[in-house]
Amino acid sequence: MRGSRCLTVATALLTLVALKAYIEWTAEEEERFPTPHGAGWHSSPITPAQPSKEEALVFIPQHFNASMQQLRQSIPRAKAYWNEKQHRIFRVLEGDLEGNASRDECFGSRAADKASKIKDFGSYSELYRNFILYDECRTFPLLINQPTKCISSGKNHTFLLLAIKSLPGNFAARQAVRDTWGQEGAPGGLPIRTVFLLGTAQGRSGPRLQRLVDYESQLFGDILMWDFEDTFFNLTLKDNLFLNWTLEYCRDVSFILKGDDDVFINTPKVLDYLGSLDVQKPLYMGQVMANASPFRIRKSKYYVPESYYVGPYPSYAGGGGYIFSGSLARWLHFVSRHIAFYPIDDVYTGLCFQALGIHPETHPGFQTFDIAEKDREDPCVHRKLLLVHRRSPQQTLQLWKRITDSELRC
Ligand SMILES: *[C@@H]1O[C@H](CO)[C@@H](O)[C@H](O)[C@H]1NC(C)=O
Ligand SMILES: *[C@@H]1O[C@H](CO)[C@@H](O)[C@H](O)[C@H]1NC(C)=O
Ligand SMILES: *[C@@H]1O[C@H](CO)[C@@H](O)[C@H](O)[C@H]1NC(C)=O
Ligand SMILES: *[C@@H]1O[C@H](CO)[C@@H](O)[C@H](O)[C@H]1NC(C)=O
Ligand SMILES: *[C@@H]1O[C@H](CO)[C@@H](O)[C@H](O)[C@H]1NC(C)=O
Repeated sequence: MRGSRCLTVATALLTLVALKAYIEWTAEEEERFPTPHGAGWHSSPITPAQPSKEEALVFIPQHFNASMQQLRQSIPRAKAYWNEKQHRIFRVLEGDLEGNASRDECFGSRAADKASKIKDFGSYSELYRNFILYDECRTFPLLINQPTKCISSGKNHTFLLLAIKSLPGNFAARQAVRDTWGQEGAPGGLPIRTVFLLGTAQGRSGPRLQRLVDYESQLFGDILMWDFEDTFFNLTLKDNLFLNWTLEYCRDVSFILKGDDDVFINTPKVLDYLGSLDVQKPLYMGQVMANASPFRIRKSKYYVPESYYVGPYPSYAGGGGYIFSGSLARWLHFVSRHIAFYPIDDVYTGLCFQALGIHPETHPGFQTFDIAEKDREDPCVHRKLLLVHRRSPQQTLQLWKRITDSELRC
């Protein structure tokens, strides 16, 4: 059968990619795990467990075929734009369709064609219509880059990369992060780096922020900015561009924490936790949304029209903040080429992980819907959490000061 031949080719390709990754990984093994030294936030030094190399090599290729099939079965063959588009992609993967049949061109060259596929396209909001018209556009130039971000003392061995989604105008939120939980350094010998992920300010009528952001980047060296309009529905694109950046400039990072700029992260506790894990075991962890389905309330930010998508959502980690293994970045980026962009970024990430056969792990320390009102000022409660949404810049400064106070007794 043509289908299985194509899948064999895909599997062979994946194995090659894995082999390359494996060779690079063994070549740089020495550098990946710096010996812990000095006093930091950690009570005890951390020696990551030695990974089993065979495990890393075979894990994903073995699972890919089966998990892609599973994903395929979980997406109803309904008359809805995304469902139809994704099923076309599956058929291309199986060799039943020409490869280019699933790929429309970028930048709305077939706008009329796309619009005609959705009967009530005219009733979609402008943002939604834009999302659909440009949903094939995945390449945008980097306006501000930090090419040496992940290199410390000449070596690429960032342990934790904090990748924070921000907006050009959120200067105060970024500064609060820099001054508190996003401080760069190497506590306990585990290097932390921070980047803020930005598109450009929306519209022509807004204030011109570009020079301010340029200046901020010169001062702090932690801004990544791409030349696309930074809107809610472009967050999936932002994620994808960030993965591409990671593969180019931060390939050897051990863990990535993707989060919003208005979360509070207990970085010392996150490091303690990650330091205790087997680095080689694939990790995708946060507050897991299970059995979720699209919002059908028009006024909601998360509204998804029935003519766009029908079906359940995969289990996914809430986008306020979640952690995944750096080694999965290449797989996510790879598999994303076979998953149509979805307007809600954390759902899209969940779809990609599902395609890889990796299930999100829940950790009670992630509170992306915040905690009980009475606990919101309580440093002892926050000391036990890993991440909580949402805090103002002022609250972030306050909380950080209190949870890192050595006098604090809980
Ligand atoms: C992939 O999975 C399908 C369905 O489970 C199966 O028919 C096919 O033989 C598998 N292909 C490979 C290369 O394992
Ligand atoms: C796919 O590509 C071929 C050759 O480049 C072209 O003739 C054909 O029209 C394309 N198909 C679609 C659906 O764009
Ligand atoms: C670090 O990684 C970058 C990009 O992957 C590479 O160009 C550079 O040579 C690496 N540097 C060292 C010291 O390994
Ligand atoms: C995403 O960015 C592109 C490039 O700036 C823009 O054309 C498009 O309208 C944006 N999409 C949305 C949904 O805002
Ligand atoms: C990242 O994107 C650029 C531009 O599209 C592309 O040339 C490059 O190959 C991509 N990098 C990876 C690792 O996929």
